[in-house]
Formats: sequence, structure tokens, C-alpha cells
Amino acid sequence: MPNYQIFDYDVLVIGTGGAGLRAAVEASAQGVKVCAVSRSLLGKAHTVMAEGGVAASLANVDKRDGWQTHFADTMRGGQYLNNWRMAELHAKESPDRVRELEAWGALFDRTEDGRILQRNFGGHKYPRLAHVGDRTGLEMIRTLQDHGVHQGIDFHQEITVISLLKDGDRIAGAMAYDREKGRFRIYRTRAVVIASGGMGKIYKITSNSWDCTGGGISLAYHAGAKLIDMEFIQFHPTGMVWPPSVRGLLITEGVRGEGGILKNSDGKRFMFDDIPKLYRHQTTDDPEEGWRYTQGDQKARRPPELLTRDHVARCIYREVKEGRGSPHGGVYLDIAWIKEKLPNAEAHIKKKLPSMYHQFKELAGIDITKEPMEVGPTTHYIMGGVQVDADTQMTSVPGLYAAGECASGLHGANRLGGNSLSDLLVFGQRAGLHAAAYARENGETKISDTEVQALAQWAEKPFERFDQGKAENPFQIQSDLQEKMQDLVGIVRSEKGLNEALSVIEELKVRSENVGCNGNREFNPGWHTAIELKHMLTIAEAITRAAVVRKESRGGHYRSDYTEKSEKYGEVNSMVWKDIDGRMKMDQLTKAPIRKDLQEIINEQNI
Ligand code: FUM
Repeated sequence: MPNYQIFDYDVLVIGTGGAGLRAAVEASAQGVKVCAVSRSLLGKAHTVMAEGGVAASLANVDKRDGWQTHFADTMRGGQYLNNWRMAELHAKESPDRVRELEAWGALFDRTEDGRILQRNFGGHKYPRLAHVGDRTGLEMIRTLQDHGVHQGIDFHQEITVISLLKDGDRIAGAMAYDREKGRFRIYRTRAVVIASGGMGKIYKITSNSWDCTGGGISLAYHAGAKLIDMEFIQFHPTGMVWPPSVRGLLITEGVRGEGGILKNSDGKRFMFDDIPKLYRHQTTDDPEEGWRYTQGDQKARRPPELLTRDHVARCIYREVKEGRGSPHGGVYLDIAWIKEKLPNAEAHIKKKLPSMYHQFKELAGIDITKEPMEVGPTTHYIMGGVQVDADTQMTSVPGLYAAGECASGLHGANRLGGNSLSDLLVFGQRAGLHAAAYARENGETKISDTEVQALAQWAEKPFERFDQGKAENPFQIQSDLQEKMQDLVGIVRSEKGLNEALSVIEELKVRSENVGCNGNREFNPGWHTAIELKHMLTIAEAITRAAVVRKESRGGHYRSDYTEKSEKYGEVNSMVWKDIDGRMKMDQLTKAPIRKDLQEIINEQNI
């Protein structure tokens, strides 16, 4: 029998980023016993890297804004594949969630009359992003964390969950280990909320931190939950491209929201070359008008740099591919030019974009108040993930909930910037509320010793293999996976490339069965990676299989062999699940027809 400690809770939250913290705060406010576990340290979840702001139609800067416009913008940005009920709840509830954060102590930037300041972002019709300079995620986490700690939530840090546990069909808890000593532990619970974030680390170039390996999505999948829309990956247009050690690091869209423009190596502002039909009525072809828009002229149209991320990323890709890129394979993002317009430009840039200023100064030796930045697309976000009920966030497994990036539905084929922070507040709160109710209404769960024993044996295998002297290196497999996902399942995809990726993933799965690591279980990165590979490969396979099936281009899924949108695929979400034989199965789920009043809002707002 493995030696393990048992922890009993009503609700276990996996992940302490924004969604996990908000879920834990809500569940605990309902009076149930809550534990939140994180692979990293409290305060270091990837949400702290969210920079530009949280989207909510507070209408503080432009009084024409309202939930209806936010709803319509989100649906259009998602190319209408979104779960419309989630988009409705999100648009209606995000203002309250932001105001609540403020009441809990978050210090947002202010308008001159003291209200929460909002900035422009791609795809949002009005200035909508409440922000704290370019450190919004950090402030949100600080606030939620303080609130949660004072509310008496138990936080267990540096814990990796190996597997979810079930009691019959129902969720029963999780098996995990502490990363410091490698000791196994069982969480016996009545409900579980997965809030583990995204999967950028299965790609070579990413804005995501080390722990974004898709682990939570894969845990849910292996426990029987369905995944949807996995083919839709957001490549943020602006990541650092130089120096190599920081390639992929995020450069906030806030730079463009503050007036930053994109240029190629010929000095041409290339974003004017291709403006998609859906956005033509809102986008200007006049640089002067674009600038006036960023300065709050309510009659002006948006500059093309503020088109949606999928489109901007593809335009950058095109410029580089056609030989008009910068020396390190990107294009130029210039905010320094605003000194032609603003007498206090330097101070303004440092005030509104302090992290960007320091990031470039310290990492690349560039002063962004004087010179342009070199930027290129970076894997940023997965729109797909665990399928959830729109109102409760329950997955297809009773008692298992998901919220934030690991859950799917709200963003459709492409997420608008700033909608992830509001997503995690709105649906983190809902997941916590409903998980607590489920825990109260359902009895205790039983854990199977046999299952725990088998999991422990599986987890310890890499050491045995290493001792036998013929094991594969886990880091090599991860690196091979990242390389292939980047090349074959990246911004531009094709049938041939995707099929090649699937064969590589199959080979890597076989190799990963033979993975080994040296030493013992005490803080052993080789062992952590050996265990994590199962999840990374599961997620890579789901993304690739879903990408093969969607024979069209839409949002974050672009096929060079099917470059147009297809009506047929506009009616379906892809679905992935683990079949009884352990294999990954795929199907297409026909979208529920949108409610009439919501369709009317879309029609009105799109005029
Ligand atoms: O560009 C950014 O600041 C990122 C924001 C987001 O992904 O929502």
C-alpha cells in the first residue's frame, strides 16, 4: 500500500489563479469547507501575467456601453460559435464582479472624476477594460488572495494532482503529491472545481508560465468529462521575439489600446491592407481617425491594430512569411510615435505601461518611449476546454465543475482580450456557488484503495525504468512535442501537417510509456515532467484531432487548405471524449439555436 495522507473537504478547488480563487471564495462564503491546491506558490498563478485589463461594460468612459454591446462584441469576436447563454451571463455579470473586487480592495486606475478607468482593446466597441496600468492580473490575484485567506480557505501550495477520483459516476476527490517531498496525498471531497488554466506549454513559443500544461483539462477528460472546441487556440499577436530566452513573453494589447501601431520592415503600417468584412464598418483606413479613436473621440472609428487577435496575428505571420519581417522574425510595434501627438508622451507611456517599459529596458535593452519593439505571435490561450453547463459550470461528471481558461464555451472561436479576466470572475463565482450547493446536497464519497494503489505504482514507474537503464528523457519528449505543435498545429494548419502531427503524437505516447527519471521524489523536476507528459500528450491529441475535423478557417483555427468560413461548420462545436476502450473519440455537437431576444441584440448592435 502506498503511504498517503487523507484530507477531507467539502469542495476541492484545483488551481489558485483568478478562477480558482474566485470559486474558492464563493464556495467558502456558502459555509462549506474548502481547500484550494496549486502547483505553484500562492500568488504565482498565471493570472498575474494578465496585463491589459478586465472587460466589463461599466460605461465609465463611454456611456453608450452596456451588457448588450459587450454580449454582441463577444459573440462576433467568437465568430458565433460561443455558447450564447454563457456570453449573456458574462456580459450581464462582469460589471458587478469588477465592482465587488474594488470593494474588496483592488486599486484600479481612475477617471478624472474618480471612477474606474477603462481602455480600448481589440474587438470591443467601446473602451471597456478596467485596468491597473499593465498589471491588472496581479492586482486581481492580490485582492482575491487576501480576501480568501481572511475568509479561512485552506491553501495547499506546490501540490500536483495526478488523477481525479470517482465514486461510481460521481466525483470523489483527487490523488496528488506535494512537490517538495513527493509524498502522496488523497483529497476526499464531495465536489471538485477545476480551475487550472491553459496549455501554452505544449507549444514552443508561448506567453504562458511553466505550469500551463493543460493538466486540469486532461484530468477532467480522463475522469470522463467531455471537451469541446479544442481546435481553437489563440495566438496573441504580440509576444517578444528577442532575445531568445524571453521569446513569447507577452506584450500587452494595451500598447495598441494606448495608440501603438504595427509596421513592417518597409516602415508600412500593414494592418490597413486587410480589414475583415465583419469589422469593416467599425474600422478606419485613416491613421488620424484611428488616433482620435484611441484618444476617446466617440465618433471616430477604430484603428486596424485593434482588430481581433486571430486576424492581427495572421497579418503579422503574413508579413514575416513574405519577407517583410524584422531581423528576429517579427514586425515592429511602435508606441514611441505618440510623442508627435502628446507633449508628455514619455511620462504617459511609463505611467500606462510600466511593465512593458521595464520588460523591454531590462530584457532587450530597448527604451519603448524612444524605439519600436520587435513583436511576433505567441501561443496565449485555448478557447476550447472542458464542456460545462452555462449556469452552473458543472461538467458532464456529477460533482465536477470547471471555470476559467480550462472551461470552454464563452469565447467560441476566438476570445476578445480582457474577456478572460471577466470570464474567471463571473464563472469562478458561479462554479464556487454551485459546487458548494452540490456538496451540501450530496453525501460523503468513498475512495477506492485499489485505484489509489494503481495510481501510486504508475507514478513511481519512471524511477524503476531509470534504474533499468533504458528510459526515455521526459524533457526531450516535451521538447519534441513543443516543436511539432508549433510547426504543424500553429497559426496556419493543413490536413497534411495535422496528420503528420497526429503520427508524431502517437510515437511520443509510446515513448512516454518508457519515460524515466533519476533520484528520488523530493523536488524532482524530471519526475514532475514524466507525470505531466500524459496530460500534455492528451491535450495535444485533442487539439490536433479537432483541428483535422474542422475543414474551414474560423477564429483561432486557420487552415491553408480551407481558407474560408463554412456555414456547415458554423453550426457545430467539436467534441472530444474518452471512450470506454480508453481511446479518444470525436463528434460534432449541433449548437442550440440562439434565444430570439439575444439574436435581436446581435442584429441591432451590428448595424
Ligand atoms: O494583451 C493583454 O494584455 C492580454 C490580455 C488578455 O489576454 O486578456
